[in-house]
Order: sequence, then C-alpha cells, then structure tokens
Amino acid sequence: MSAKIIDGTLIAQQIMEELKPRIARLLEKGIVPGLSVIIMGEDPASLSYVKSKGKACERLGMRSETIMLSETTSQADLMTVISNLNANPKVHGILVQLPLPKHINEDAVLEVINPEKDVDGFSPINMGRLLAGGECFKPCTPNGVMELMARYDIDPAGKHAVIIGRSNIVGKPMAALLIQKKKGADATVTICHSRTKKMSAITKKADILISAIGNPGFVKADMVKKGAVVIDVGINRVEDKAAEKGYRLVGDVDFDAVKEVASAITPVPGGVGKTTIAMLMLNTVQAAENIPKL
Ligand SMILES: NC(=O)c1ccc[n+]([C@@H]2O[C@H](COP(=O)([O-])OP(=O)(O)OC[C@H]3O[C@@H](n4cnc5c(N)ncnc54)[C@H](OP(=O)(O)O)[C@@H]3O)[C@@H](O)[C@H]2O)c1
Repeated sequence: MSAKIIDGTLIAQQIMEELKPRIARLLEKGIVPGLSVIIMGEDPASLSYVKSKGKACERLGMRSETIMLSETTSQADLMTVISNLNANPKVHGILVQLPLPKHINEDAVLEVINPEKDVDGFSPINMGRLLAGGECFKPCTPNGVMELMARYDIDPAGKHAVIIGRSNIVGKPMAALLIQKKKGADATVTICHSRTKKMSAITKKADILISAIGNPGFVKADMVKKGAVVIDVGINRVEDKAAEKGYRLVGDVDFDAVKEVASAITPVPGGVGKTTIAMLMLNTVQAAENIPKL
C-alpha cells in the first residue's frame, strides 16, 4: 500500500490561520509584528526564500523588511546593520539569510543577533537553550518537522529516528528536538553524515527517517524499513527543460519508489519547506508577544 502523503501546505495554512487572532491582539495594542531579513548577494535560491518570507508576512498583515546587501559588504558593515536592527523597537525578528559569502564569519554574525529577536533560532544562546530543553526560539525547519509529525499523530516516543545530515540549521537541532524528554519527542536518535559507514544498515533500522543533505534521490527504497515515516528536508534544483524555469525542485528522497515502502512521507515541494515559513511567522509573532510591556 502506498504511503500517506504528509501535506505541508495544509499544515502551514493551519499554523498561519491560528496566528491570525494572536496578530489581531497585538495590533489592538498598536504592535505590528515585524520581521527584518538581511540578504547578502543575489543567490537565486536565497532570493526566492526571502521573497516567500516577505509574502507570508504580508498575507498575515505583519511588517516585513528585506535589507539587500552587496556580496562584498564587509563584516563590520553587516554587524552595524544587525546592531541597528537589535536597537529598533519596531523590529521583533531578525533573520540573516544563510549561507553568507566566504569572507564573512558566520558564527560572529549569529552571535551578535539579539537572542530575543533571533527568530531563526541559530544564535548560540538559542541553540544552547534548545539543547538544554529550555524556552527558546526553535530553528524553523526542524521545528516544522516536529509540528508536521504532531499534527499527523506521529508520536516519536520510543521510536528510532535516523537523521541524515548534521548541519547546525537542520540535522543537529532536529536531533536536539527529538531527544527532548517531553511529550511529542522522546525518540532514540542516530545522526548520519558524509563519514558514516554502511549507512543503509542504519537507515533501514529507522522508524522515522529524516533526510537533510541536499542530494537529489539519495534515499532509495532499499534504504527504508517497511512502514517507516520518511521526512524529506532536502530541496534540490534539477534541470528540467520542460519546466518554465528550466528546473524543478526535488527532495533527497526517491519519492515514487520510497512511498511504496513507507507508511507516511513528505513530498517536495509541498512538504517541509512550507512549514518552515509558517514556523518563522510563529516565532516572529512570539517575539512580538514577548515584549516585556505586554
Ligand atoms: N525544507 C526547508 O525548509 C529547508 C531548510 C533548510 C535546508 N533545506 C535543504 O536541506 C538540505 C540540507 O541543508 P543543510 O543546510 O543542512 O545542508 P549542509 O549544511 O550542506 O549540510 C549537509 C549535511 O549532509 C551531509 N551529507 C552530504 N552528503 C552526504 C552523503 N552523501 N551522505 C551522508 N551525508 C551527507 C553533510 O555531511 P558532512 O557534515 O559530513 O559534510 C552535512 O552534514 C538542502 O537540500 C537544503 O536546501 C531545506
């Protein structure tokens, strides 16, 4: 039997709908939740993500601002832009679109963002709080995965979750969320990466298999246990002459084959990517609600 398709578009709509009354309450108090996004350079994929974030803010009646910096902007100038946003009371969320050009020290940039405005959850303070199980802004993509599972009644408790990919923005925080001692988590987690040996033997043991590597079609049907839940975080552009843009988006998972083995699976597009943006809106509204005078 073919797997249940986890509809990220639908879940994202639900999350956004649930935010509307919270935003209305803020507006009544004269507070317009505001997100500022900084982008350096003109990478087409990054530009398209930033555009989607702006559109989502617009749809919810939130304030959004995109600060476009040239690829050659210095570290000092970038830091000054962030410091100004830290000090601006109209800005509740600050997001620096990654990856940054090679001459920029990414860690130093993430460290300078005020943790109370760090709606991406990448600052060391939020990452530390996440690992320790404290209150924090959770990184949007892995938190979106948790939300997808919760809303599809997929309980990770006691399950073996295998994550492929160990980046700071997906793999590691995904593991941190899944191992928390709390309802909706409590999984046993294994992380695989490019140095992992005999990966199929590990992925085949996964009750929940999450791929976040950026390699089209990497996860094949013979790497997946029958009945596993498969979450595809990967977003890859592959050439497609028939498509209007000359490419189409695919995930890391060989979707057509894996859906015949899995019990539930996220598609690309229409899966994790949609919830990522909804979780960013959620974090920004939360940041606005956290203002001490409220
Ligand atoms: N859906 C969303 O909203 C969303 C958000 C963020 C990212 N993404 C997508 O998710 C994917 C991963 O993003 P990222 O930022 O985490 O990427 P990243 O920083 O490049 O990290 C990729 C990870 O995958 C591992 N890896 C790469 N090739 C591998 C292989 N053949 N076997 C095993 N492990 C391998 C790498 O291992 P090493 O550490 O050993 O190098 C690394 O840990 C990309 O396609 C990206 O576009 C989607």
